[in-house]
Amino acid sequence: MTVRINPSILSADFANMASDLARIGNADFAHVDVMDNHFVPNLTFGPQMVERIKATSPIPLDVHLMIADQDRWAPGYAELGADSVTLHVEATRDPIAVASSIRAIGARVGLALKPSTPFSTIEEIAHRFDQILVMTVEPGFGGQRFLADQLHKVQQVAAFRAKTGTQFWIQVDGGIDSLTIEAAADAGADTFVAGSAVYGTDNPGFAIENLRKIAREHSHHEEHND
Ligand code: DX5
Ligand code: ZN
Repeated sequence: MTVRINPSILSADFANMASDLARIGNADFAHVDVMDNHFVPNLTFGPQMVERIKATSPIPLDVHLMIADQDRWAPGYAELGADSVTLHVEATRDPIAVASSIRAIGARVGLALKPSTPFSTIEEIAHRFDQILVMTVEPGFGGQRFLADQLHKVQQVAAFRAKTGTQFWIQVDGGIDSLTIEAAADAGADTFVAGSAVYGTDNPGFAIENLRKIAREHSHHEEHND
């Protein structure tokens, strides 16, 4: 199974974003955490920043929206060049309509669950998305401890995917490092966001390769077996 490593630029140096993007050239996507001080108690990037990052870096952009009223704002991020836009089900009134708008623009669309939101909330609509994001920390900040109790949810999503034959990617975000990535991959995740574990080292490119190697060793091989 293909694994993807998406470094979170929340842990990059905001005053040196272009050079910090150049340091993760071997990443699959750059993960861009958009926060508005309402949905989460932190404030980061908005549309202008996404537009400039897209113009500055060739890495595909994985935009994770942690803002209020995503029905209103989400499609705009796809228009500005996000290759993937992930919505939080807790902040979106009509996720299917928003997903259609984002797809029509040509981007992938993901659906995210906060730690307290069960998979059953989205079970009926999960197949309409390209990615399901299981948050493994409370959204808002980098550098938090991995919530191992979310592994059960990753397993549920993976079991649903296998049972239904859907193709979405299963992303985990929060507290992913060279230890926790093993358990997340074992549980069925294939797309890994890592902020501090990549930018907190002297060599982000090496950290990405190391995480990719560990994830591959622990990833499922169902695609080869059927
Ligand atoms: C948290 C963000 C994460 C964060 C992860 O709300 O969604 O993407 O940057 O950072 P680490 O890997 O340090 O937990
Ligand atoms: Zn994120």
